[in-house]
Parts: sequence; structure tokens; C-alpha cells
Amino acid sequence: MLKEPAHQPNWSQFYDYIKDQGPSIELLQTLILLDFDPDLIQPLYAVDLGCGEGRDTRELLRRGWQVLAVDSCAEGIRRLEAHPDSADHEQLETRVESAADATWSNATLIYASRVLPFLSNDEFTRLWKKVADSVERGSYFSCTLFGDRHDFASDPSIRCRTAAQVQELFSPFEIIAYDEVEQDTLSRNTPFHCHMFNVIAKRKLSSAPHAVASGS
Ligand SMILES: C[S@@+](CC[C@H](N)C(=O)[O-])C[C@H]1O[C@@H](n2cnc3c(N)ncnc32)[C@H](O)[C@@H]1O
Repeated sequence: MLKEPAHQPNWSQFYDYIKDQGPSIELLQTLILLDFDPDLIQPLYAVDLGCGEGRDTRELLRRGWQVLAVDSCAEGIRRLEAHPDSADHEQLETRVESAADATWSNATLIYASRVLPFLSNDEFTRLWKKVADSVERGSYFSCTLFGDRHDFASDPSIRCRTAAQVQELFSPFEIIAYDEVEQDTLSRNTPFHCHMFNVIAKRKLSSAPHAVASGS
């Protein structure tokens, strides 16, 4: 994970750093898990929130998924649209907007990798409501949250959470995979402490489909 200065992450540098690294391990783990579910919403349709330059969107397209790729940074979307593996792809829709403003329906997977900590509290609350509604309707939700011992935790503009806060957030959902990762690592030769939660969730077994009215 690239270490960025407080307040103004340099997404351009992040995109340069990540672009040749292939899909994230979090996406690959999510797709392995979904492979075991014979009742996935069809056609396979993913919403990649905070898609960045699109490494995970491209992997989903390669596997035949339809993808709505959303990022508030126009440069990320431009890079995705210009990439040979995704340019003019008929299964791809892109939007430059906040993840909190994105709308979708009948998604198989809502995917939010390393974006949620960058949302304001208001954006996060609005998005979480939409995600909860989607999950109620049968979508899977896979996301990364930063932990309170992450190096970014000292930056008030980046929201890092304790394990208890993460559990509380997911109380309306059934957590089907939960991975707390904490390690000292290097980012471009700079020591970096990474603390993240990778969570895959779906609706609670006790919840009937469409039990919750669409909230937003
Ligand atoms: C660390 S990058 C992760 C990109 C991509 N998910 C990946 O794993 O390669 C975070 C991304 O979140 C985007 N982002 C930050 N705040 C956002 C928001 N409110 N809505 C949508 N995207 C946002 C940034 O523009 C950036 O592309």
C-alpha cells in the first residue's frame, strides 16, 4: 500500500504504483468465495466503488462480468477507459462521482476496495444505507476498511476503525469472510504499518429477500 501525505492523497502516484500489479488479492478471494454460491444474482454484475485506475474492474471484465466502475477522481476513470483491456468495453459503464452518490440495481457484488476510509462521515453513512439495502436484496458486499493501528490513523481525514466498530457496522449483515491484516511493510522503501479489515458479507440468513424498503 502506498504511503500518501495527509489530507490530499496523490492518486496519480497511487495509480502509477498499482497499475501493473494485477488484480488485488481481496478481489480474487471474493471471487473464489462467490464461485461456491449457485444462487448468485444473474447476470453477473459488479459495482466497483472507488475503482481507481481499474485493476479490479479489468479482472472482472476479463471474467465476463458487467461492471459499473465509479471513482470521484476523473484521472482514474480516464486511465480505465484508455486501458487496452477495458477501452470501449461493452460490459463496462464508468462514472466520475462519489461512491455515496452512485446508484445501481440488481448487483451481484458491491465491491469497495480501499476506498471507504476516504469517504466523509456523511458520504459513508449514505453509502452504507444503500449497501445494506442491496445486501438485503441478495447482493454480496466485499470491502476493505482501515484499522485503528494503520499508519493513516493519525490523519483525521482518513477514517480508521477498531475491530469492535467494524463488527458493529456489519451487525445488519452476515459476515461470511473476515480477515484482519496487520503488518509492518515497505512502501517505496518507506517503512509502513498496515492494519486493515477485509470483509465479505451478505444478507442475514434470517432475513427474507426484499424485507427492507429501499432507503435511498
Ligand atoms: C487507494 S485507491 C484504491 C483504488 C482501487 N480500489 C484499487 O484498489 O486499486 C482509493 C480510490 O478511492 C477513490 N475515492 C476517494 N474518495 C472517493 C469517493 N468519495 N468516492 C469515490 N471514489 C473515491 C480515489 O479517487 C482512489 O481512486
